[in-house]
Amino acid sequence: MTTNDLGTRGFARGTDRYERARPSYRQDVLDHLCAAAGIGPGTRVLDLAAGTGKLTRPLVERGAEVVAVEPSAAMRETFARVTPGVPVYDGTAERIPAPEGSYDVVTVAQAFHWFDPATALREIARVLRPGGVLAMVWNERDQDDEFVERMHLAAEWPFRIFRDYRPDVDASGLFAPTERRVFRWRDTLTHDRVLERVSTFSYIAAMDEAPRAELLSRVRSAVTEQPDPVDLAYVTDTYIARKHDRARPEPAAG
Ligand SMILES: C[S@@+](CC[C@H](N)C(=O)[O-])C[C@H]1O[C@@H](n2cnc3c(N)ncnc32)[C@H](O)[C@@H]1O
Repeated sequence: MTTNDLGTRGFARGTDRYERARPSYRQDVLDHLCAAAGIGPGTRVLDLAAGTGKLTRPLVERGAEVVAVEPSAAMRETFARVTPGVPVYDGTAERIPAPEGSYDVVTVAQAFHWFDPATALREIARVLRPGGVLAMVWNERDQDDEFVERMHLAAEWPFRIFRDYRPDVDASGLFAPTERRVFRWRDTLTHDRVLERVSTFSYIAAMDEAPRAELLSRVRSAVTEQPDPVDLAYVTDTYIARKHDRARPEPAAG
């Protein structure tokens, strides 16, 4: 099992809260992803690490034939309730339960950083048809913003998720050069909603009750210094990588 334990365990706690508190994907972001990946009526899409279906649903609304894969049983349960009519299978990015070449597009929202990148990229390329597309997206708080920085400090945020993932994908040699596009925006949220969102961070959700409450009270102090509601700065980071049409030729001998 190569799945990062925290990546599934943290998200398994409070999946309804996750569904309620995490941001959705903006229309301009969805327009870009669908145009660049060629997603429309009848496109066969695999939404990998689908969670509760936050990206799955808008893809279905655009007519795509979406199938979801998600390793957390608790997430799959919530997915089935809030994203009815879409099949969701148990599986990981490192072991995708799908035949070779069976999808036009694989989408990965807010999750590639949990994967073993080399193994996952091989699996993603395996289930894509030749010329198929990997589309990835992250909604991340803008770590260059002063308030976000203070809030992250209080929350002991341990990650640097917002970084350039193109080298990871390009190093696999399985895709044409990856295209990246970044969107900056602000989410206007009440203090309570900010705190609820922070409580969905995987490492916080996985904590025991007492240290979790203590940490959240430090976050509350940072948040309540701001006007209510607060404008939270976000960066949405998108990547499009097209699988090579056919296997790359072996390098010539000698
Ligand atoms: C932040 S959530 C994103 C969920 C959803 N895509 C969204 O946009 O809301 C990350 C998801 O990745 C899943 N996950 C973690 N490790 C994984 C792996 N190795 N393979 C597939 N999914 C994984 C977790 O169970 C969780 O549902």
